[in-house]
Amino acid sequence: MLIRVLPEDHGYFLRNIKLFHHKNLLFWDLKGSAAVFEYFCAMLVLDGKIAAAAVKESLKTKTAALGANGKRKPHLAAILVGNNGASETYVASKVKNCEETGFASTLVRLDENISETDLLQTITRLNEDPSVDGILVQLPLPKQISEQKVIETIDPTKDVDGFHPVNVGKLVQGLSTFIPATPYGIMLMLEHFAIPTKGKHAVVIGRSNIVGRPMSILLSSNLKQGNCTVTICHSHTPNLKELCLQGDIIVAALGRPGFVTADMVKEGAVIIDVGITRVEDSTAKKGFRIKGDVAYDEVAQKAAAITPVPGGVGLMTIAGLLKNTMQAYEQRVNG
Ligand code: GUN
Repeated sequence: MLIRVLPEDHGYFLRNIKLFHHKNLLFWDLKGSAAVFEYFCAMLVLDGKIAAAAVKESLKTKTAALGANGKRKPHLAAILVGNNGASETYVASKVKNCEETGFASTLVRLDENISETDLLQTITRLNEDPSVDGILVQLPLPKQISEQKVIETIDPTKDVDGFHPVNVGKLVQGLSTFIPATPYGIMLMLEHFAIPTKGKHAVVIGRSNIVGRPMSILLSSNLKQGNCTVTICHSHTPNLKELCLQGDIIVAALGRPGFVTADMVKEGAVIIDVGITRVEDSTAKKGFRIKGDVAYDEVAQKAAAITPVPGGVGLMTIAGLLKNTMQAYEQRVNG
């Protein structure tokens, strides 16, 4: 938000400069005049549409150049088992984003009752297909199938979800790898909006293999958007509120709508909401609304920056996946 401070309010802003700094507000005298100050009031909405569009645009340019040089496009194969409504939506969005970026995509739809053996065979076939660069199997899977076996069957060089133990091991050791799409998307978002992280205390709520755990590793790593001191909280953390109140950055990834409330957040914190729970709502067209893990309206009053839901991290997850697919392609083509 751009605010113009009128001359009569000038004194007030000067007297309260410390407060604005405290809230991480950025401001400067654009006109070099003592009479009129303009500053950016950083209750910054970390808009996933903007950050994801920037990532997609650069990938689109790269892909167009490949086509112009007579090279094939990056190719993502997505496997969807059954008819879970949320999974259907996510996979459809992944395929659509591939198209928009100029990538090739294949959607493999399999019956809810497929055996584990048949699913593993499908993955092996895609592993061996030289035209496929990236493979993802949308989770969760029906209970007759071991997710761990599925993850371990995907060729690590095509594992664009970054879930294979080989890729997780590389992430932990700070080696080049496929970063799981949601934490990758969050890192891209922090980079896009130039959010300072070095030396900050990041509190990650949730320890899932998909988000919380890799997020905690990335934020503590020696990366441009890393170098945080990280606390990882979970269902057995007794003093969660106390820890959250110490967080310069909070990543909420526990899947409980509205869990993080204003009383758990310190002034000027950066809030990353990973929640995407479908909550029944008869007034909504689809009969549900997507709710984040953060009570947005109240937390936004205290935050320096916050991701909306929808329109925040969800869009960045796709950006992360597309980046990984391009990386898989480049590794196959260039070795
Ligand atoms: N289910 C929820 N998030 C993800 C994800 O990032 N990848 C896959 N494959 N399934 C998911």
